[in-house]
Amino acid sequence: MSPKTVEIDATPEWAAAAEHAARLRDTHLRDLFAADTDRADRLTVEAAGLVADYSKHRVDAAALEALFALARAADVEGHRDAMLRGEKINTTEDRAVLHTALRAPRDASIVVDGEDVVPQVHEVLDRMAAFADRVRGGEWTGSTGRRIRTVVNIGIGGSDLGPRMAYQALEPYADPEIACRFVSNVDGDDLASNLKGLDAEQTLFIVASKTFTTLETMTNARAARDWLVAQLGEKADVAKHFVAVSTNLGEVEQFGIDPANTFGFWDWVGGRYSFDSAIGLSLMVAIGPDGFRELLAGMRAVDEHFASAPLEQNLPVIMGVLGVWYREFFDAQSHAVLPYAHYLSRFTDYLQQLDMESNGKRVRRDGTPVDYQTGPIVWGTPGTNGQHAYYQLIHQGTTLIPVDFIAFLHPAEEVGDQHDLLTANVLAQAEALAFGKTAEQVAAEGVAPELVPHRTFPGNHPSTTFVVEKLTPRTLGALVALYEHKVFVQGAIWQINSFDQWGVELGKALAQRIVPELSTDSELSHDSSTNALIRRYRAARRS
Ligand code: F6P
Repeated sequence: MSPKTVEIDATPEWAAAAEHAARLRDTHLRDLFAADTDRADRLTVEAAGLVADYSKHRVDAAALEALFALARAADVEGHRDAMLRGEKINTTEDRAVLHTALRAPRDASIVVDGEDVVPQVHEVLDRMAAFADRVRGGEWTGSTGRRIRTVVNIGIGGSDLGPRMAYQALEPYADPEIACRFVSNVDGDDLASNLKGLDAEQTLFIVASKTFTTLETMTNARAARDWLVAQLGEKADVAKHFVAVSTNLGEVEQFGIDPANTFGFWDWVGGRYSFDSAIGLSLMVAIGPDGFRELLAGMRAVDEHFASAPLEQNLPVIMGVLGVWYREFFDAQSHAVLPYAHYLSRFTDYLQQLDMESNGKRVRRDGTPVDYQTGPIVWGTPGTNGQHAYYQLIHQGTTLIPVDFIAFLHPAEEVGDQHDLLTANVLAQAEALAFGKTAEQVAAEGVAPELVPHRTFPGNHPSTTFVVEKLTPRTLGALVALYEHKVFVQGAIWQINSFDQWGVELGKALAQRIVPELSTDSELSHDSSTNALIRRYRAARRS
């Protein structure tokens, strides 16, 4: 039984949190730090190799206590335990939510519908490892007997963003002899540009789709197959160049991919929670089975922390309640994730799906409308690039944007003293956002009076600074699991189902209706705007 829905905003805990927010609204981080010299020590937590300093948040001990009470009122722990036990907490799809089982140790046991899923997980992992080793070792060859040099992952959303992000993040750990490319968009330019320069004899396509019916993926997969056959002619043996990852083994076979070259997963793995399932096959080929297992170990370490640490010390819970605090009581609409690591340049893209597809909801689990805010807009790019673009708005704009800074003690690659420069910047940004610069300080520097308002920094902008030893498979896994569970905590507090995504359906259905209308002269019965746009397209394509 999934935990019952609570009218969370009608609870005394919600009211108490709101009162604390009102009390602290005009309190500056400068005052909070001045009043409490141990603040940074007390408000730093370490878990699974990740250190998080959350002292630069607009909270004090009483406010935090109220937020943990709110999490308890929402039964975050009960909900978490139900998820970890394999209960069907995705009620609108009648599914368990068990991405944590993907990294469970071999000797664990998690039962869904009377069946222990852990042996199945390890059976697929072992098959993936054997396959990855064959590709990496050159034993798996294409139609003409030549080894594979490029792996092209064809997938979209959760079947693309995770492996794409992780492949980039872990580039220093990847086999330089095998390149991975990622094709997702139904825009033919995506496939065309990714096929440029490829030698078909040495190319392997992984068609990754949970459902194996997604328009973008199936269209690209068919076009890739046509390309392969056109390139190799009579020599083309499609089975040697196509493998699949899916839960829909029937559709895979229909497409013509050998079941022996198909890697399954299960309906209890949500698309956006699937990157450590067989969906990560391209990544495993790139970094090797041992690297992939390290990634799983990092995720598992966070799972264990999330499952057992008291809420007050529980990093995903702390992140979750702080996000709720700003979203509900400080009118924050967005949340910036700013990694100071070039190799994490796709990390925020990945988090966007994870967070916004999970918690972009307007009804509670029981179908009643929420009358409070839910998931934030998640955005960001790696530092220091953003500093020369949009940080201006975070520092001096009119919107409150809580920030996650992610800093590393060691770079992936040492280049002179550049890592010191990078680290100085992330620390400086967190400091500047929190403490700002008063008009008095600006004036004391001799700035002309008319420029003082322009050069004043209000500060009081909250941030968490994560400090990670180094970007490795293990720490990347830990970071991903951390955000997965943070999203979970927030969804539990908001009483929503974080695991369905009905909001993507309407656009998909309308597109299916519009497709034939673009190439025929059929009667149009959309609104006047859509009708006019279709006519304009028809005219351009026929002229
Ligand atoms: O349209 C949204 C979505 O269903 C995502 O949730 C999912 O990750 C993506 O499409 C791809 O789906 P599939 O893996 O079934 O191709």
